[in-house]
Amino acid sequence: MKIVTTGDELKAELTHRAGRRVLVPTMGALHHGHLQLVKLAREKAGPDGTVMVSIFVNPIQFDRATDLETYPRPMESDLAKCMAAGVDLVFAPDVKSMYFPDRSITVTENLLSSNLCGAARPGHFDGVCTVVLKLFLLSRCDAAVFGEKDFQQLAVIRRMVRDLDVPVEIIEWPTVREPDGLAMSSRNTRLTSAHRADAPRIHRALVVAAMLENPVEIIAAARHEIESSPLTKIDYLSLVDAETLQPVTDLSRPAVLATAVFYGDVRLIDHVSVPACA
Ligand code: PAF
Repeated sequence: MKIVTTGDELKAELTHRAGRRVLVPTMGALHHGHLQLVKLAREKAGPDGTVMVSIFVNPIQFDRATDLETYPRPMESDLAKCMAAGVDLVFAPDVKSMYFPDRSITVTENLLSSNLCGAARPGHFDGVCTVVLKLFLLSRCDAAVFGEKDFQQLAVIRRMVRDLDVPVEIIEWPTVREPDGLAMSSRNTRLTSAHRADAPRIHRALVVAAMLENPVEIIAAARHEIESSPLTKIDYLSLVDAETLQPVTDLSRPAVLATAVFYGDVRLIDHVSVPACA
C-alpha cells in the first residue's frame, strides 16, 4: 500500500497505474461501514485496478469549530485498517496542500441542499461539493463509492456530477448498522456510554414512525420517541420527497424520514425510506 500526501505525489503515483481507479473519499476514523465501501471499491476496480482511499478532515464543510477540532483523527489505525482491507493507495493530504490561502472558488448546489443538513449546517454542502470535486480531479478516479447513510450528501454529489458533466461513476452502499440498529459513524466514538446506550432509539423511532400512513402522524411519532429521552436534542426531523428532498405533506410519492439528533455536542444523522401510499 502506498501513502501519498500531496496532489503532486498522487499524480506521479497514478502514472504507474493502469486499470480502473475507484476512490473511497473519507474523513478518516474508519469503521466497518467504510471497510464495506472499500470492499465494494475492490469489486468495481477489479484485481488490476486501483482502490484509493482519501483521508482528509475537510475544514470547509464544518459549520462548528468545536466539531472540527474534536473530529477523531486516528491516522495510524486508519492506515492499518486500509492496509488490512487491501487498499492500494491512500491519499492523506494536509489542509495547506488542499487549499490555497486565497482560494476563491466554491461549488454550490442550490436545491437539494436547501433542507435537512444543508439548512442546519450553512455552507456544509458547498464544502462537501468543493472537496469532492477536487478529490475526483486529483485522483482521476473512474468511480467513487459513498455510503447511503449520508443520503443528502449522496443526492447532492450525484447532482453535481450530472450538472457539471463530471466523468465519475457514483456508486452507493447501504447504511451499515451496529447490531442494535445505530448507524455506524465516525462520530459514534465520541458518544459517552450513556449516550451510546440511548442512541439506537433514533433508528427505532424512524422505523416505527415510517409504518404510519399520515405525514403529520409520522413526524409526531418519531419526535415523541426521540424526545422521550432526556439525553436527546433534535436538530431537525423532516419528511421529504425522496427525489427533490423538499418537505412533503402527503405520501403520493416515495419519501424519506430524516433526522439529526444531538447527544451533548455529538450530532448523529439517520433516515429511513417511507413508501408512497396507494
Ligand atoms: O462523507 C464524508 O466523509 C465526507 O463528507 C466526504 C465525502 C469525505 C467529503 O469530505
